[in-house]
Amino acid sequence: MIFRPSDFHFPDDPARLYPDTPGRRWVLEIGFGDGRFWPHHARTFPEAPNYLGVELSGVSLLKAHRRLKAAGLSNAVLTKMPAEVLVREVLPDQTLDAVIVNFPDPWPKAGHEEHRLLRAPFFEVMARRLKPGGAVQLTTDHDEYFEFACAQAAASGVMRVELTGPPPAALETKYALKWRDLGLGAHHARFVPLHSGALPAAPPRTFAPYPEENAAVPHAVLTLPASFAPQDFQKVTARSPQPRGEGWTVVLLDLYATLRRDGWTALAHVVEGELTQEVLVGITARGDGTHLVRLARFGGPIITPGVKAAVGSVTEWLEAQGAVVVHRGY
Ligand SMILES: C[S@@+](CC[C@H](N)C(=O)[O-])C[C@H]1O[C@@H](n2cnc3c(N)ncnc32)[C@H](O)[C@@H]1O
Repeated sequence: MIFRPSDFHFPDDPARLYPDTPGRRWVLEIGFGDGRFWPHHARTFPEAPNYLGVELSGVSLLKAHRRLKAAGLSNAVLTKMPAEVLVREVLPDQTLDAVIVNFPDPWPKAGHEEHRLLRAPFFEVMARRLKPGGAVQLTTDHDEYFEFACAQAAASGVMRVELTGPPPAALETKYALKWRDLGLGAHHARFVPLHSGALPAAPPRTFAPYPEENAAVPHAVLTLPASFAPQDFQKVTARSPQPRGEGWTVVLLDLYATLRRDGWTALAHVVEGELTQEVLVGITARGDGTHLVRLARFGGPIITPGVKAAVGSVTEWLEAQGAVVVHRGY
């Protein structure tokens, strides 16, 4: 099954994701490519574990979906989003049995290490998400990235590195075959969390699905000046005070008049770390003469601090045009 990012809860519950196969082992694969690993590997278990696959490429998502369906693997959830967002915001603590990373993009150029997935912050989150006995399993042809990942795991202070042979299925992926044809071998490591027993409390999640109750959708109520009729809109950029990577950037790109009702729609681009969302914010007339500024459900937005800030940016832009805010709900 393909899940849009907004189909998840933050954090989610494996029993909700796999209602027909509760209690089975849970495996996450990051960057599954065309999906060859899982049909091979799932066969090595008496009953196929629940599978969660995350990819950045939409083409790969569709190819892998077809492959898993053909293999009859129905307890599989595939999604397209940055793995960093999925592991940080969606996965609950101590629920994963294994995390598979086969032939990750190596980012070989000097100065590009910050783009690599297997860095100390990733291991710190994974140490929380794995069950006791679970492990992150890396297979790669890339000598330098392999050493880098092992050093980062050790530097994280939360993982032990075990060097073993790769599972046979990891040598059947598209990239494994590509490197094998070139005569290259593959390295494999298991990164095993050191923790045993209770972990210190995790910081609260700040992401949420689009709420069912109207009142909980980020919004504001305001009175527009009688003369309000925007003919011209200049792009607006707002940034959170937090340092890069932790905060958000909101760019209000455009404003459109709606034809059906007395109102407008703002198009906003929201960037928060690895997550980028395009969202619509409606400005709609209400019966009492005020206007409602409200995040639209269209496009399945995830409610994040940046998305709330987008509603705030639209509201502040309207204030700069003379609107008087009656209520802020963002
Ligand atoms: C070199 S390919 C390997 C694909 C597959 N594992 C294989 O062995 O054939 C790396 C894959 O990781 C995906 N990827 C890269 N960064 C990612 C991220 N941050 N989150 C999820 N997927 C990512 C890419 O889209 C690409 O499909």
